Amino acid sequence: MVIAAILAGGSGQRMGANILPKQFLELQDKPVLIHTVEKFIVCPRIDHVIVGVNAEYLQYARELLARYITEPNAVDVCIGGSDRNGTIINILQYAIKEYGASAEDILVTHDSVRPFVSLRIIEENVAAAERCGACDTAIPASDTIIRTEDGSLIADIPLRKEMYLGQTPQSFRIGLLQEVYGLMTEEELAVVTDACKMFFLKKRPVAIVEGEVSNFKITWPFDYRVAMAMVGELT
Ligand code: CTP
Repeated sequence: MVIAAILAGGSGQRMGANILPKQFLELQDKPVLIHTVEKFIVCPRIDHVIVGVNAEYLQYARELLARYITEPNAVDVCIGGSDRNGTIINILQYAIKEYGASAEDILVTHDSVRPFVSLRIIEENVAAAERCGACDTAIPASDTIIRTEDGSLIADIPLRKEMYLGQTPQSFRIGLLQEVYGLMTEEELAVVTDACKMFFLKKRPVAIVEGEVSNFKITWPFDYRVAMAMVGELT
């Protein structure tokens, strides 16, 4: 079984003062979240799509999905966590309870605010997680990456050809994900927000799936304008 975990529990602070978190903002004819969910519904490898949202938006998200996704029972909604990993865990628990997801099954986790993810990326994630146990999606860095410790002086300039930018999906065999979470200390969990980094820290291999520049995350108002241009709303 392959389950898509759509992470939509964030509040989008960097987008500024919007009435709604960015995953609910309109992108042409439908909200960002719906664009994202549709990409997973049409993928033949995905058996269930589960969206994790803040409790405050549970009813709102359910209504939205019922309005735009006409196929019955195509998407489930559950309450997200206080951080991104918490949302992954809640979706995982929901999948175990509602669908009997087990150790051998695959969880494809994806940011709800990356609406331009492609079918190829999703399918390659499933294949890589089946093969390797865990995978991340990434693109080669086109700018030089500069490392700094204090924000004012350069501490290092790593070799650009070795630098990649992480995107999502990040996909895992469920048993391995549970094992790695179990090995994390409270202190580690408080600082490590990236599930692939947990695998890396606990010395588990993580395969890389080739991402796409268009699979960017809507983080800042500028990104939202780019997304609008991509769907033809800005000329
Ligand atoms: N996310 C989540 N649950 C949380 C926090 C984040 O599911 N408790 C999700 C967001 O909804 C988003 C993804 O994780 O789809 C990536 O997070 P980010 O862009 O950092 O989202 P926000 O936390 O919403 O934004 P910001 O950091 O600007 O507040």
